[in-house]
Amino acid sequence: MDQEIKAFGGVLYSEEQIARRVAELGDVISRDYAGKELMLVAVLKGSVVFLADLMRSIKIPCGIGFIGTSSYSGISTTKSVTITIPLTQSVKGKNVIIVEDILDTGYTLQTLKAYMLEDQGAKDVRICTMLDKPGRREVPEIKADYYGFAIPNEFVIGYGLDYNEMYRNLPFIGTLDESKL
Ligand code: IMP
Ligand code: MG
Repeated sequence: MDQEIKAFGGVLYSEEQIARRVAELGDVISRDYAGKELMLVAVLKGSVVFLADLMRSIKIPCGIGFIGTSSYSGISTTKSVTITIPLTQSVKGKNVIIVEDILDTGYTLQTLKAYMLEDQGAKDVRICTMLDKPGRREVPEIKADYYGFAIPNEFVIGYGLDYNEMYRNLPFIGTLDESKL
């Protein structure tokens, strides 16, 4: 590894493991949405790496859009989620999959799901997240319809995920040892 990572805990999922799993997700989504109009909406910035791989593993026509939220700084989550970058594409009447890097407390996706359905008039909204941390959930009704891997309560970086805006470019998913930060 060329990039030095402070408090690195180890590789959780390698590039190869991620690629295999994303290909499987693409197959399932392609089957589930065959014959339907599909729009992927990626949550900036963490999900861009996942989006780029996922959209190429989906074998049916689909549109993409972006939205940005803020709720997270460093290692602690706050509970109020605001939309900081407006939705780039209309989702009115569309079948939407929100593409996220990680489902943690669930507040971000709760806010975004309600926004797409109630404010933006989407027909249907599902969630596809690369990682799910079920042990951290504070909004129990928010579930991932599609997810790459369920992980324990550890802070993870890489494959789009950051720690204070660093490490998003790592091709693997690794953990940080919070006691050493
Ligand atoms: P939630 O609203 O608590 O579900 O938070 C979701 C957001 O928190 C994600 O989109 C990430 O940006 C961030 N996040 C949560 N856990 C981690 C982590 O382990 N590493 C990096 N970012 C995280
Ligand atoms: Mg994020």
